[in-house]
Amino acid sequence: MTDSAQPTPLEARCSGPLAGRVRVPGDKSISHRALILGALSVGETRISGLLEGEDVINTANSMRALGARVERTGDFAWSVHGVGVAGFAEPRQALDFGNSGTGCRLVMGAVAGCPISAVFDGDASLRSRPMRRILDPLELMGARIADIREGGRLPVTLNGARNPVPITYRTPVASAQIKSAVLLAGLAAPGITTVIEQEASRDHTERMLKHFGAEIVSTPEGLHGRKIALTGEAELRGAEVVVPADPSSAAFPIVAALVVEGSDLVLSDVMTNPLRTGLLTTLREMGGSIEESDARSDTGEPMAQLRVRASKLRGVEVPPERAPAMIDEYLVLAVAAAYAEGTTVMRGLKELRVKESDRLAATADMLRVNGVRVEISGDDLIVEGRGHVPGGGLVATHMDHRIAMSALVMGLASDEPVEVDDTAFIATSFPDFIPMMRSLGAEFS
Ligand code: S3P
Repeated sequence: MTDSAQPTPLEARCSGPLAGRVRVPGDKSISHRALILGALSVGETRISGLLEGEDVINTANSMRALGARVERTGDFAWSVHGVGVAGFAEPRQALDFGNSGTGCRLVMGAVAGCPISAVFDGDASLRSRPMRRILDPLELMGARIADIREGGRLPVTLNGARNPVPITYRTPVASAQIKSAVLLAGLAAPGITTVIEQEASRDHTERMLKHFGAEIVSTPEGLHGRKIALTGEAELRGAEVVVPADPSSAAFPIVAALVVEGSDLVLSDVMTNPLRTGLLTTLREMGGSIEESDARSDTGEPMAQLRVRASKLRGVEVPPERAPAMIDEYLVLAVAAAYAEGTTVMRGLKELRVKESDRLAATADMLRVNGVRVEISGDDLIVEGRGHVPGGGLVATHMDHRIAMSALVMGLASDEPVEVDDTAFIATSFPDFIPMMRSLGAEFS
């Protein structure tokens, strides 16, 4: 996806009840990790349910450029023949991660443990995002930055370490991307690489490393944190990976069903890892009817079927320590908050400023242009819910998939339609969002 592509606007209108049963696409975080760990393994990794969105395809292409054999063997079924830990070949061209911070930052970690040089690049959104938070610990491990744009931005040329050094690293912010980059580099280092986080972030890398045969131990640290110790010079073995449905994508039909009167939806196989379910907790506190059934965890990550029914919502206060478990969901939570009765206060959202766009500002703008009263106070977002949304606004997507989907969800119950200026970036994470929502009864034109 380039930022010069022709924009494709879309309008969402007040719709009848949403009903049906769907499976949203595979989890983005797990899809990236399955491809990367598959490429760092010896033997074959078979992945089913892979998210075939642009972000993940860019990671698949970068694994090919680094020497792994990556093939699509069927619908959402992929096979990776890996090169082993530290076995990456030097890529002939720059690795282009498009819009994806996760793909770029995790692969930086994997490359940092190999004696090769690689150029990392992305689209205008990714080129504006901070990379120092990843490169600082990787430099401590022996990687060297040969070239970087001012302000620690892409494009970056990274020289991986010939003899990577294991470190103990305290992450400065709760970030699974920082944690994962350090752990992936640590795979090639002798001895124990340790990451300490004050607030636990999503633990998919730890779970999957174990699944691929690495020795990794995670213990509680402080009130909400974790300490993760990985034994280096690991030999990863190819494995089977079943990718559950992405809770961050499920968030859109879930909020849509809660706010569109009379709706009754079933979402299957949604991942319910507790480090990803902050939105479900919050929506339930707001009075949302979300029932879980068929819970299982036979594939390494817990998942369940969710039944969501339209509900009267009320404003709540969301504590800052919940942010890591719902960091990608605040945009769509703000939509639910606008439809609630009363004020919703979302605290501690500093990290939202450095996502695909400045999501704190973008969320406020999205609501404001549609007649919702909203305020940013420090790092907090305060939304005044009045039980309905006037709508009638044009929302700027800023190359951010989640802004586009949140605004379209908002328009499904607003008094006047809501328009978004560009839906193109939805393809990074949820390529079938528009037809899937239409199949449930959403009116887009
Ligand atoms: C992700 C981590 C989060 C999240 C992103 C996916 C991951 O980013 O926002 O969409 O897969 O590790 P941070 O690590 O920057 O919090």
